Amino acid sequence: MVEKNIVLIGFMGTGKTTVGRMLAARLGRDFLDMDDVIERESGKTIPEIFAEEGEQAFRQLERDITIDYCRNTTGKVISLGGGAYMQPAIRDACLADCSVVALELSWPAWLARSEELKEGRPLLQNKSTEAVRELFEKRSRVYADCTYQLLTDGLSPQDVTDAIINWYKESGF
Ligand code: S3P
Repeated sequence: MVEKNIVLIGFMGTGKTTVGRMLAARLGRDFLDMDDVIERESGKTIPEIFAEEGEQAFRQLERDITIDYCRNTTGKVISLGGGAYMQPAIRDACLADCSVVALELSWPAWLARSEELKEGRPLLQNKSTEAVRELFEKRSRVYADCTYQLLTDGLSPQDVTDAIINWYKESGF
């Protein structure tokens, strides 16, 4: 049986990469962080792409690379950058070919860890808390269109990984 990729989505700082790595190790799968793949393939860091080429160019790269991995690989655990799933073409490819797991946090829980998230994330620079909250809420509504959604407030990465594995075993995805 061909095993679908498991794709982790969610806002910046919800633990997609940490959980993705743990989940892949537990399932004996390869792990791919799409931001790392974009950096490797472009030869630039994400802040450099934003600064030198602009967000549009980043989104284009993100779209091409993510759709390629969704369509042409199987059996991996893949974490997406927080904005990737806002692109309808990425969302469609993920939902068509992969199991999509959304890691959610409540706004207060996210806010409590927000200061440590700013470095290396262009979208969190020079934005008011209110503007980030709007983005957070707008995106949360889109993340809800997924295969499995988990509220992670108060859970450790280990707890989140356990919950995903339980869901995965029960659902047979
Ligand atoms: C972004 C999230 C980042 C990265 C880029 C844009 C976003 O990934 O893709 O800075 O639009 O939310 P993480 O969610 O891994 O921080």
